[in-house]
Amino acid sequence: MRRRMIAANWKMNTSGAEADALARAVRERLSTIDIDIILCPPFLWLDRVSRILAGSSIKVGAQDVFWENGGAYTGEISPIQLAEVCEYVIVGHSERRNILCESDDVVGRKLRAASAAGLTPILAVGENRLDHDRSATREVVTRQLRSALAGGWEGELVLAYEPVWAIGTGIPATPEHAGEVARTLRTELAGMDPKGAAVRILYGGSVRPGGLAAFLRQPDIDGALVGGASLKIEEFARLANEATV
Ligand code: PGA
Repeated sequence: MRRRMIAANWKMNTSGAEADALARAVRERLSTIDIDIILCPPFLWLDRVSRILAGSSIKVGAQDVFWENGGAYTGEISPIQLAEVCEYVIVGHSERRNILCESDDVVGRKLRAASAAGLTPILAVGENRLDHDRSATREVVTRQLRSALAGGWEGELVLAYEPVWAIGTGIPATPEHAGEVARTLRTELAGMDPKGAAVRILYGGSVRPGGLAAFLRQPDIDGALVGGASLKIEEFARLANEATV
């Protein structure tokens, strides 16, 4: 039985004061809930958010990581540095693939470095609108998955299926589409490693309260990666509660 998970991707949002307030509100409202909750604030606030959540069941994650543990890499943050302040890290988010030009190869390097440092990667995969419209979803997500996991993986791994065309648009994929892609990903994972059956698969892309339950009815979807709705405590709390039903 895979435990449900809701991960919050705050992206490049929140001031320090807003991050504190949101983390405190999540701790107050959701620390007794029977699912895993992960907050991924901007790098700058990781330390303070971790302190606010210390001793609670709510975990912290970063939104990105570099692939080397140290050295002359101006502006980058290493996996061993991150492991001092958080347990999870999103790797391969489509905004990094598309805006920052991260290749499948770079995503794979980041994933391996994160795992080796003891972080749990949340590997994001998903097709863009063009690939979706030409029915190439399966081909794209399978390529992204195989490339990122080429060397296998150690420890825990979480996958997030995030169709690029659904992110930030207010229009999520249908639960059936997401469920079908999740099944494809699960089959791929199982073919790579027997521990693939235990990997949690999240859906992401315009997840809103009232809409999550239908995704969770898909047998291979175990939770959600939430952007916009994770910045408002009322919406995020409703989502988290919806995931317990
Ligand atoms: P969204 O973002 O919920 O705002 O669509 C999800 C994500 O990009 O992880």
